[in-house]
This record gives sequence, structure tokens and C-alpha cells, in this order.
Amino acid sequence: MIRIRCISHDGVREIDAEEGISLQTILRKSGYDIYSPCGGRGRCGKCTVWVSGVGKVISCRYKPTSDTEVILPGENEAGILVRQTEFLEDFPFNREISPGLSNSPIGVAIDLGTTTVVLYFLNLIDGAIEKIASFLNPQMRFGSDVISRITYCQENDTGLQELQNAITERINFETDTFLTDRGLVSGNLEKIVVAGNTTMLHLLLGEDPVPIALAPFTPKFTSKQIKKGDSSKININPEGHLITLPCLSAYVGADIIAGLAVLKPLFKNYLFVDIGTNGEIALVTGSTVYACSAAAGPAFEGASISCGMAAVTGAVSGFSDDGEIQVIGNIAPAGICGSGIVDIVAYLVRKGIVDGTGFMKDPFVIHEANAIKVTRQDIREIQLAKSAIFSGIRILMKRAGIGFGDVEALYLAGGFGNYISIRSAVDLGLLPEELEGRIFAVGNSAGIGALQYLRSDEIESRIGRLIENSIYVDLSEAEDFPEEFAMNMDFQQRSV
Ligand code: FES
Repeated sequence: MIRIRCISHDGVREIDAEEGISLQTILRKSGYDIYSPCGGRGRCGKCTVWVSGVGKVISCRYKPTSDTEVILPGENEAGILVRQTEFLEDFPFNREISPGLSNSPIGVAIDLGTTTVVLYFLNLIDGAIEKIASFLNPQMRFGSDVISRITYCQENDTGLQELQNAITERINFETDTFLTDRGLVSGNLEKIVVAGNTTMLHLLLGEDPVPIALAPFTPKFTSKQIKKGDSSKININPEGHLITLPCLSAYVGADIIAGLAVLKPLFKNYLFVDIGTNGEIALVTGSTVYACSAAAGPAFEGASISCGMAAVTGAVSGFSDDGEIQVIGNIAPAGICGSGIVDIVAYLVRKGIVDGTGFMKDPFVIHEANAIKVTRQDIREIQLAKSAIFSGIRILMKRAGIGFGDVEALYLAGGFGNYISIRSAVDLGLLPEELEGRIFAVGNSAGIGALQYLRSDEIESRIGRLIENSIYVDLSEAEDFPEEFAMNMDFQQRSV
């Protein structure tokens, strides 16, 4: 018998279980409702729970052998898993996609984010997801955003090599760990598919990213790249392939294209927004895709906020109308992360503490003892960031000649979209008020796009059509952007 300690939003419970049965079965028998769209066959990857000391596991595949502490998904996370099923495709596994180089072929889909990297390990015999691993991108030590990493390459002779080594060594560590745990070797790793922004893909392949940051912003490549195993820096079968998915431009990357490709065709007109230092925005109208990238700056990542910090333990991640703060890890606050600052500024606007122009008389104190506060300059940073994103949306709508009444949905992709309060984002003017009720966070759509590419050949033709039918709108060249940007700086006070 082993003991399972379960932490959920209902509290903490300890249960006894037998060794050798899946965590999903153990949890189910104890009355926990684990979301399992594929019925425990390892296909959907949505029955994830967090195991202390191990990380995120697929609960239907994970069999604990000793006492284990399990953290169940919070309501927000669980909601996103449900919405992923509702809005993202799950193509049937096609066995033919396996290169057939070994008896136990493994594929890996990677969402190569600037901040977070997620790996999905797929069994290429039955299509089951064996493991999901994630880690902070080790390139963070060279800069938190793409421009600072490109600058590092520009200013250091060995910069590109250092950045490439940082990410490939970490990916190799994860893949080697996975293979060793199962008694496999790198020859079993036959295919890797990567989605990421244009800069991240250049750094992975060791291609010079500097042209991405210099006018006319022409990357070395935007098309799909295929590297044979023996010419890649990833430890895979020498005859296997490392594939990076196609990008649209220097600042609309394969992460957006893969995310768009995996959306179910539920609507004719919809927006797809990934908020980060560069807000990547796509507007789909029928078969045409208008896309742009809006330079929002690092405010939503906490970087340009006086008490800002990343969304890690100690960060204020939420703020309610009764003044209650949510802190990651339930400890004393050390700073404010993106979702926290969005909540706080929206609250200040709702209460009239910040006026329509963004003026606030005194700094707003969040936690006196730890000197956590929001300053006038912080409000300014948020105004700049929210106006960039909203103006990008408005420009695309103008180019397509449609109004918000014609837009059926707005999908929020990526990590930040998972955690912000949609109500706060609307109150702030970051997202359009007219679309309230039609805004859906779809989580890691780029990673799911790469995963679907790995398991089925259907998505490749979708990606091809998307690229072919896309119109890239360069906001730095858009004559109406400065006016839009100025107009959208103000806050609209809606209700108290
Ligand atoms: S229930 Fe689908 S992977 Fe576990």
C-alpha cells in the first residue's frame, strides 16, 4: 500500500492506494473527477495532474510506486483543458507518420516559448502521449525577450552559439531523461516537431537572428525547416528529423500559425491573440488571415512595472474588488506579475482611483509591510501596452473592413492568456468590450498544434493554406496606427 496526498481546491486529503495502478484510477476511485476526453487511453493528454518532485504527469499513464503528493488542476486550469477540447482539433493518430527507424519509435512536439518550453513525448506506435515536460527557457539568462537575446548575439562573437547551446542542451537533457527512464536510446527518437516564434526557431537552429531586429526585418527563413538527425544539435536518430514549423514573418511566428491551424473550424470571423512582449494578433475572415505584431513592451510580464516580477512564487497574481490579493504559493507578496497588474489597474479604473486619462493622485499600496505598490508610471506602462494590443486589433479589423459585431469569437492563446481575468482585460481596454462573453482562453495552442502535426498529416495542408492566405500588416508602416494608438491610451470607466 502507498499513500497519496491529494491537494485540490477543496483542501488536502490522504488516501491509501495499491501500487501498480494508474493515478487516474486511484483518484477516480476516491471521488476526484479527472477530465479524460479519451477515456484513459493516453491519447488526449488532458488528464494531467502535478506530482510533487516529478512535475506534470499524464494521470492515466502514471503509476505511482511510493508515497506521492498530487496537486490537482485549479478551476482555471481545468477550464482551459475543457476549452481546448471544445475549440482545438484532436486528429486521429496516423501510424504512417512514423519514420520506422526503430522498434520503439518516439516523437517529440515542442512549444519553444521565449519564457517557457513545453515538450510532449509521443509513442509513434499507438499515438499515446507518454509524458509532458516543461521548463523555463534557459536563454532567459541572456535576456527576457527576443530583442535582448538578438542584441546579445549581435554584441558577442560567440553569442549565437551560447544561446543555441543553452536550449539544445536543455532539450537533450529532457529527452535523454525520458529515454533512459524507459530503457530506450537516442536512436528511438525519430521525429521532433517545433513551434515557436521566429527568433526562437533561429536560435534553435543556430541561424543568425540579427536581421529580425533590423529594418527591413527579413529573417533568414520563415518556411518549414527540416534538419536530418545527424546535422542537428539534438540527440536523435541520425536518420530522424528535426522539423521547425513555418512562420509568417519576423514577428508572427510558427507559434501563431500552429495555433491557428489547430483551431476547429467553428466560426467564420474570429480573432486570435497571444499577448506577450510582442502581442501577436490574427484576424480570420473566411479564408483570409490578417496578422500583425504589436510591440506591447514587457509590462504584462511584470518587467517594466516598479514592483513587477515574473509569475512565480510570491507574485501577486490576482486582486478582487474587496481588496483581497491572490499570491502564487500563498505566501507574503514579493511583487506583482502580469495577471496581477491587469487586475489591479482594472480595479483602480473601475473605482475611479485612476481617471480616464490614466492619472492617479498617489501610489496605490497593495502591501504596506513589503512596500508593494502601483505607481503612476506603472499605470502609464499599462496604458502603452494595452493600447498597442487594442490598436493592433483595430487596425486588422479596418483592413478586413469588418466591425466587432461581425466577430464571433476571440481566442486568447499562450500562458498569459491563461491567467488574466477576462473581465479585467476588458475593463482595462486591452480586449474589446463588444466581445465580452465571446472571449475564450485556449491555453497552449502552439504546443497542441505541434503535437497534432506530429500525430497526423492533416495539419500540414492547413498550415500551407493559412500561410498562402495570410496578409501581414506591418504596424510600423501603417499610417493610421499612431492615431489609433493615441486614441486607445485612455481608459473607459464602465461601472463600479
Ligand atoms: S485521459 Fe486522455 S491522456 Fe489520459
